[in-house]
Amino acid sequence: MEPLILAIESSCDDSSVAVARGRQILTNKVSSQIEHAKYGGVVPEVASRRHLMNLPMVLQAALAEAGTALNEIDAIAFTQGPGLLGSLLVGANFVKGLSLALQKPLIAVNHIEAHVLALWIEHQPELPCLVLTVSGGHTQITLVQEPLQHTLLGQTLDDAAGEAFDKIAKMLGLPYPGGPLIDKLAQQGEPIHSFPKSQIPDFNFSFSGLKTAVLYYLQKLTPEYIQEQLPNLAASVQHTIVDTLLEKMEMAIKKHKPKSIGLVGGVAANSLLRKKFTEVGLKYNLPAYIPAFAYCTDNAAMIAITAYFLFQKQQFASLRTVPFAKQR
Ligand code: KG4
Ligand code: ZN
Repeated sequence: MEPLILAIESSCDDSSVAVARGRQILTNKVSSQIEHAKYGGVVPEVASRRHLMNLPMVLQAALAEAGTALNEIDAIAFTQGPGLLGSLLVGANFVKGLSLALQKPLIAVNHIEAHVLALWIEHQPELPCLVLTVSGGHTQITLVQEPLQHTLLGQTLDDAAGEAFDKIAKMLGLPYPGGPLIDKLAQQGEPIHSFPKSQIPDFNFSFSGLKTAVLYYLQKLTPEYIQEQLPNLAASVQHTIVDTLLEKMEMAIKKHKPKSIGLVGGVAANSLLRKKFTEVGLKYNLPAYIPAFAYCTDNAAMIAITAYFLFQKQQFASLRTVPFAKQR
């Protein structure tokens, strides 16, 4: 029988618990922390305290939905990093306690690798698969030779794509997280304002220039005009970010000739990006995969699928394993 894996994700502001039988996700519970909205961004100290309160409840709910008892679990997986150190520490200590009490092995999972392997929850992408990861914390292009074996081709040198969406949304007076709101507003607008696209070589990205360009642009406009132009401004920003991302993807497709392409991370929820990503697949005659929305934003199901591949290789972590904040 396939292993029964319990997985915990606590790297940022979502406390999530999943149970999987092999690659089949039995449940994926997420408790999102809404209190950060009033501060205009995630407050690390608040996030760790919330994880402490949420994780036992989310665990109970997940076990009940999966119809699983704790003693049936074969291994316990957790996010080791990168992420907010306090939040990761709460998750790591939570699973260490479970591991000791249940005498079950631990599996340490890399959060960014998990975002990529979320593609394997519902699909079996043809290999090599070229994956664009876009979230609030990460923007990168990886070539996956096989699950757990990938090459990083490029990444952002400053802000992540989601971070750019959120920071520009804040300049437009929108609440946090602004990415989904820009998407919504853009649907009523046209990209009539032109913003510069960064000219970073290779497969790397930079979004800080766009952020500054938008700031200077807005400083020249009256509040009334900004208000009136909100949908067009949102459409223009979205258009610039999406085009920047997909231009690099096309460059990488031409150079590395993958057999399929994938789009993962919270920003994969963006409607224009999804549409244009699918068009890139059609243009190059490649299957284009995007996970269900619940597997794009931070979730424990992606930790469980990654843990499944690690379990097969018997790659377990010791109780001394410590979290890391930054990608090494
Ligand atoms: O993957 P995720 O849930 O968390 C991180 O690991 O960062 O991604 C969250 C990010 C936020 O920056 C949010 O604004 C962005 O994804 N996002 C969107 C959309 N939905 C979420 N950005 C643009 N358009 C959307 N529809
Ligand atoms: Zn993430």
